[in-house]
Amino acid sequence: MEKNLSNLPIGVFDSGVGGISVLADLVYQLPDEQYVYFGDSGNAPYGIRSNEEVKRLSLNAIEYLLNFKIKALVVACNTATSVVINELRNRLNIPVIGMEPALKPGIKLNKQGKVAVMATDVTLREKKFNDLIQKLKYATNVIKMPCLGLVEIIEKEGKHSDKIKNYIKDIFLPHNIDEIGVIVLGCTHYIFIKDIIANIVGENINIVDGNLGTVRHLKNLLQADNKLISGKTGGCKETKIKLINSGKNDDMLELSKKLLEERLKDLNWCGIINYI
Ligand code: DGL
Repeated sequence: MEKNLSNLPIGVFDSGVGGISVLADLVYQLPDEQYVYFGDSGNAPYGIRSNEEVKRLSLNAIEYLLNFKIKALVVACNTATSVVINELRNRLNIPVIGMEPALKPGIKLNKQGKVAVMATDVTLREKKFNDLIQKLKYATNVIKMPCLGLVEIIEKEGKHSDKIKNYIKDIFLPHNIDEIGVIVLGCTHYIFIKDIIANIVGENINIVDGNLGTVRHLKNLLQADNKLISGKTGGCKETKIKLINSGKNDDMLELSKKLLEERLKDLNWCGIINYI
């Protein structure tokens, strides 16, 4: 029974192409697993919506993913995690792993100055993130940076765009860069533009994200449940991936493939992807 379960794919969900950055890290770390990715680009962005809407859209998308008989679910979206993770954990009898802004690692790296958290409006206003700040006793040292409109630009243009450069320059204008010690990327879309942000803010500021923490958490849960195919990282493997996107045409699928392959190349991954 358990052997059969370990052969099932891992479901990965995001409001759009952002979770592809998490998928790339999953493929790199756990190349023997199979993946089904659902990007809800037809309804993105989630980060400016009401909680009711984020909940309805996330549950719809995840219901669709469950048709693929997945052995675990990764909610590769900070926004959806903020709103529905507890409900998902109560409803589903598979491991459910979410994302949250990597504030703790950010604080650890911060020698002096403040920790700026770039995320969607929903993530920054929701209880989950604000409880985390309180728990870590860091309220006065966090700069919340809601990046309104940035997800839309990335969904439309990918990661190579002057619009993104200008957006990042503008969003840091009201801030004193010397006051910032660390930037936390609290939205999976922003991982793709980490280099652009680094170029603009300069090399003295560390930029962190929560992707690897999420992958590690998934690996531990699968291992504890005897559902991990193999915990081996790397190797020139063939990894099977089913990509699904609710966008109106195939453009979003093409963008997803491009972003995935570019990121795996950046990680020096030598395997191949078999799109099933
Ligand atoms: N990738 C999502 C996140 O991590 C973006 C949410 C949105 O669609 O606004 O929050």
